[in-house]
Amino acid sequence: MRVKLAAGNWKMNGTRADLAQLAAMQEATGKAEILICPPSPLISAAAEAAGQIAIGGQDCHANTSGAHTGDISAVMLKDAGASHVILGHSERRSDHGESDADVRAKCVAAWDAGLKSIVCVGETLDQREAHNTLDIIGGQLAGSIPDAATGHNLVVAYEPVWAIGTGKIPTLDQIGEVHDFMRVKLEQRFGEGVGRSVRLLYGGSVKPGNAAEIFGVSNVDGALVGGASLKAADFVLIITALNAS
Ligand code: PGA
Repeated sequence: MRVKLAAGNWKMNGTRADLAQLAAMQEATGKAEILICPPSPLISAAAEAAGQIAIGGQDCHANTSGAHTGDISAVMLKDAGASHVILGHSERRSDHGESDADVRAKCVAAWDAGLKSIVCVGETLDQREAHNTLDIIGGQLAGSIPDAATGHNLVVAYEPVWAIGTGKIPTLDQIGEVHDFMRVKLEQRFGEGVGRSVRLLYGGSVKPGNAAEIFGVSNVDGALVGGASLKAADFVLIITALNAS
């Protein structure tokens, strides 16, 4: 049985004043796990304020330490109180040119540091319109996930690039098609036991108004939420929908 996961990605938003949202999010505590990934400067303070909510980073470097100005290692995230890290988000892939091989190396570093990773995959609108979605997702899964994946150390997030921050979401059939495909791919590569235990999140314009229908889709084990995770009032409604699913 996979435990549902409501993950919030604050991206480059939030200062210490916003940590008050974490206290309000505790109200939604139920059977689903809750994770918030704030910007790195907030991780220590967030981990102290988080209570039942897990705290994660939004990226890490593949090395443990060294001459990499501005970068943060998985060991540092763990030391600051994080338990998870988002890797290969499309904004990292596009803004920082991260390849599948980069994401895979970061994922190994995260696991070595004892973090759970949320590996993001997703097609662009051009790729969807060219009917290449499943090929793209299959390639990203194969290239970005290291061999040592388990249901404990890995979560996969399907985030269509064109749905992120746009208010557009795929049809429920399209979400189901990709999630079923990802489940089969994971079972084929890692065996049925591991493949069935990895949680699959949908991300991209998840809001209180569409969460319940998305959570009703097969093989959707939760959501990776950007904008609607910034305010507890919205995120609590999404968590409540997940708890009820
Ligand atoms: P959004 O972002 O919910 O604001 O669309 C999702 C994400 O990028 O993880």
